[in-house]
Amino acid sequence: MKTVTLTLKYVREMDCPKDVVIWNYYDHEHLVGTHYKYYREARILAEKDSWALLYRKMKMPLLPFCNSTLACQWMEGDVMHVVHRDLMGFLLEMEVHFEDLPNDRSNITVIYNIAVHPFLKLFEKYFQMVFERWYEGTWEEDEPMRLRRWRVHKLGFKDFIGIDYVNKKKEAPKEFPEREYVFKPPVAAFSGIKGEGIGRPSISPIELGYNE
Ligand SMILES: [Fe+2]
Repeated sequence: MKTVTLTLKYVREMDCPKDVVIWNYYDHEHLVGTHYKYYREARILAEKDSWALLYRKMKMPLLPFCNSTLACQWMEGDVMHVVHRDLMGFLLEMEVHFEDLPNDRSNITVIYNIAVHPFLKLFEKYFQMVFERWYEGTWEEDEPMRLRRWRVHKLGFKDFIGIDYVNKKKEAPKEFPEREYVFKPPVAAFSGIKGEGIGRPSISPIELGYNE
């Protein structure tokens, strides 16, 4: 079938290094927690290093029904690729370009390319509104999570260990040694996300600590 490509591009800076943002994109469990308003289900079907095959069910803004996608995600240098095929047959190719900036900041460029039937070019504005709301909404929810991860990393946080002086109920050190944040996918997970998948928790996300 002949298709046309709708392209959308968003550029934004973060107050944390790029590897913290990449970690956030590989932490698939947060989809049904932090993004509980959008995602209904998440499952990792297969993963190896930066490659992941994912199933996700979501409710996108302005669409009156739930959609679901099968997606493949991988890194090539500082670019993350995600190719999604959804319930309606749309093919969405997403690129996220990560760049470190001075002072532990980063620049994140998200590009969406959606292959659609030429007829749907008429609805380009509608696609833009859907993706704009999706991008803005999820970014708003991801930002505090990324900043918190970076903040606790600087305090000495280690996955599944926590913060040493907090665990030992000791006084906080006056200074913390600088530690580079280096992320290597995949993220370790102990929920059922790598088995049958996980859904939205039935209790309030605030109780799970998804707000500050
Ligand atoms: Fe997120």
